[in-house]
Amino acid sequence: MRQINTMVLENRQVARGFYKMRIGSTYLADAMSPGQFIEIRCSDDLNPLLRRPLGLHRILKNGIEVLYEVVGKGTALLSKKRKGESLDIIGPLGNGFDIKAGMGQATIIIAGGIGVAPLVSLAEEIARSPRPALHGRELYVLIGACKRSHILCEKDFKKLGAKVLIATEDGSKGYKGLATDLLKDFLNPKPYILYPAIYACGPNEMLKTVAWIAKDRRIPCQISLEERMACGVGACLGCAVKVKGGGYKMVCKDGPIFNAEEIAW
Ligand SMILES: Cc1cc2nc3c(=O)[nH]c(=O)nc-3n(C[C@H](O)[C@H](O)[C@H](O)COP(=O)(O)OP(=O)(O)OC[C@H]3O[C@@H](n4cnc5c(N)ncnc54)[C@H](O)[C@@H]3O)c2cc1C
Ligand code: FES
Repeated sequence: MRQINTMVLENRQVARGFYKMRIGSTYLADAMSPGQFIEIRCSDDLNPLLRRPLGLHRILKNGIEVLYEVVGKGTALLSKKRKGESLDIIGPLGNGFDIKAGMGQATIIIAGGIGVAPLVSLAEEIARSPRPALHGRELYVLIGACKRSHILCEKDFKKLGAKVLIATEDGSKGYKGLATDLLKDFLNPKPYILYPAIYACGPNEMLKTVAWIAKDRRIPCQISLEERMACGVGACLGCAVKVKGGGYKMVCKDGPIFNAEEIAW
């Protein structure tokens, strides 16, 4: 992990309120793995004071890409950054997904809303992994959002050969309902399939339900948690999450990827 001064290579709107930013840094491209994140200083002055955490969306030849939703001051400032502007970043931070987890016929990735952001680099790694354990595995990606225009990255997953299923709460695309209901419907007719792993990122309520479904089906499940962060390195205890058996873990240092069974939901 380093503090580095980098440069914006590209920052473009990909849907209303959602942006992709390419950041030039061969160091980050080499050092980062799916599931890890960076902390970006969004402004040159002290407002906002704290850096904002963003997950690794994709690894590029000359840097990395992040995908973010504008939800407040920090992300609004980020969306204004132009090509060539400098960026102050700390990273890589956190652990990463374990792609070797579990053995079986098919792997499931499930995303809720902007939770899709870190799952593209994971799918890319799974798709290109030369390991025999992954060879021939099907990759299913379930993407849920409130409405059609908030469904992101469908094409990226399809390009990797993944089978993509969509859920929208308003029914404007795909299954009408929550991604977790789609997951239940997806799993129910195939009780004989031994899924090796579920990987999930999205709102906490969604992750809690995914964890419950995975436990019920005895499928190993890795989740990417999001908590408000300050230091990003385990020093301020601001991102503590309660774990089973008592005690807390820090999402920034011990996570953001956890085995779903570890968390005291
Ligand atoms: C490890 C990690 C990885 C993340 N990766 C991504 C990513 O790839 N793409 C992306 O768009 N966002 C990601 N986030 C969330 C992102 O960090 C926040 O949306 C961002 O910090 C908001 O900053 P802001 O100044 O724009 O909004 P603020 O003004 O700080 O907050 C605006 C609203 O967003 C809520 N909020 C802020 N931070 C979080 C959070 N961490 N979790 C839940 N709600 C929050 C606030 O409660 C408030 O309602 C990630 C968070 C973590 C912890
Ligand atoms: S953000 Fe400070 S301990 Fe995690």
